[in-house]
Amino acid sequence: MNIPYNVTMGERNAPCWCGSGKKWKKCHFPRRDSRTECEQHRLQFGVHCKTEEQIQGVRHACRITSKILNDVCRQAQPGVATSFLDSYAVQRMEEEGVASACLGYGSPPFPKSICTSINEEICHGIPSQRILKEGDIVNIDIACISGGYYGDCSQMVIVGGHSSPERENVVAVSKQALLASIQVLKPQVPLKIIGETIASVVKENGKFSIVEMFVGHGVGLKFHEAPQVHHFPNRSLIPLIPGMIFTIEPMINVGTKECVIDPSNQWTALTADSKPSAQWEHTILITEDGHEILTSWDEPL
Ligand code: MF3
Ligand code: CO
Repeated sequence: MNIPYNVTMGERNAPCWCGSGKKWKKCHFPRRDSRTECEQHRLQFGVHCKTEEQIQGVRHACRITSKILNDVCRQAQPGVATSFLDSYAVQRMEEEGVASACLGYGSPPFPKSICTSINEEICHGIPSQRILKEGDIVNIDIACISGGYYGDCSQMVIVGGHSSPERENVVAVSKQALLASIQVLKPQVPLKIIGETIASVVKENGKFSIVEMFVGHGVGLKFHEAPQVHHFPNRSLIPLIPGMIFTIEPMINVGTKECVIDPSNQWTALTADSKPSAQWEHTILITEDGHEILTSWDEPL
């Protein structure tokens, strides 16, 4: 069925054509058939929109994951090794009865339970004996499995609270880009609005670039599901529909968007020009009347 989402309020409130005397919106206004809509998305795009029960499960997984992320971020102080952040996260996951989605993921298997990506590391940094210094910017990325459901989120920490204007700026712009791209999400809007919105925020703020090699993703029943969520301008006309759950996780670079993968571990993505990079990530649910951010950050850190 073709749904007249572009009708005006006046048209929706006008008397129904059937003569019932009721408003059109209360009478023969075409209802979205959510079952057909979800079936369409699965067949056409491989996108699984979640049932109410699944949403409850993912919401719970996201709540725990983001609580652990908030706790780990508070530990990211000068003098602390990233391997400590990893063990602290493992301890918190055990307390909460959840498992890391990252540990053992992929090939070669990701060796740690969280990602810690410092300065010119774009993503997939591996916790190590490296000590955080005042002025480092570090992305902490945590994904957990709770009762079979997945949550995924990340934040930046400016270690010690202050850094160079350039580093502080890329941290701020990447956060602003993510939050702006969430604001516009509601049913029937095409997926490409995310990349467009991120690009417009980045452009307003100078010369930074958007990484294209890594994308956001559907999440919930598996760690990585369809659709891919591009953070740069693209042509995806996949309409957002209620029950879709996906991450947005833009990586913004001070210099070139090009990356190199560290050959020594085959995971860590570094900026090709060694300039800083920053990333923030939320898991988002599309609802009947907009969106819900399932992962919540403590503000301010
Ligand atoms: N948020 C990141 C992602 O979706 C987390 C990566 S964990 C890793 O890819 F195991 F893949 F490193
Ligand atoms: Co992710």
